[in-house]
Amino acid sequence: MRTWIRNHGEGRNQVRHDGRFHEHAMLSKQTIAIVKSTVPVLQQCGEQITRRFYDRLFSEHPQVKAYFNEAHQAVGTQPRALATAVLAYAAHIDKLEALKDALPVIIQKHAALDVRPEHYPIVGQCLLAAIRDVLGAAATGEIINAWAEAYGQLADLLINSEEAVYRQNESKPGGWRGARAFRVARKQAESDVITSFYFEPVDDGRRQRAE
Ligand code: HEM
Repeated sequence: MRTWIRNHGEGRNQVRHDGRFHEHAMLSKQTIAIVKSTVPVLQQCGEQITRRFYDRLFSEHPQVKAYFNEAHQAVGTQPRALATAVLAYAAHIDKLEALKDALPVIIQKHAALDVRPEHYPIVGQCLLAAIRDVLGAAATGEIINAWAEAYGQLADLLINSEEAVYRQNESKPGGWRGARAFRVARKQAESDVITSFYFEPVDDGRRQRAE
């Protein structure tokens, strides 16, 4: 799936998901200026903020921990990925179309993991709290509000694009949304090293094949 972003100026962005363009309100000039002015600070302590964010996320909302790959946490890949995404966003906040190559990767990853709209406020709260923890007094109310607004815009864009993927997957023959229970219906040895497993949904008889 491709994500199209058109900047129409005049306070409007158009983002295409599910084959149609949707209007997204742009942020105020003041919010954009505040978020952009925090890029150097984030560059300096972006990883520290992201680590603090994960500490908060996993201790305050342990139910989301299962979504994350613990091996990635251990080697620090995901903290870097998120820090990079946040910085790229801050640097391009007034021209979101510059993110059009990065967004599909995030959207597909999230959709593969079944990230849901209700997770976004949790992540947003932890991210803002982490910024406050690391920046201390430098994180003024104005900065936090600007980031809350900016995060809200990106979350809105991701939620809508991910919903389009979920709808597309659901409408495919044999498709479904969210978690679905399967049982192994049959195992077949194809060669000495390859075995095919035939899975059957517990709720009806249509079969999917995985090797
Ligand atoms: C605006 C908000 C968000 C941004 C900018 C963002 C960004 C990213 C990025 C850049 C990646 C790495 C993609 C890749 O290269 O494979 C990623 C992965 C991931 N994101 Fe998000 N994300 C956001 C919100 C969320 C939310 C709300 C959840 C819900 C719990 C979430 C869960 C995950 C998970 C589980 C992964 C895979 C991590 C792993 O490999 O362990 N993200 N995200």
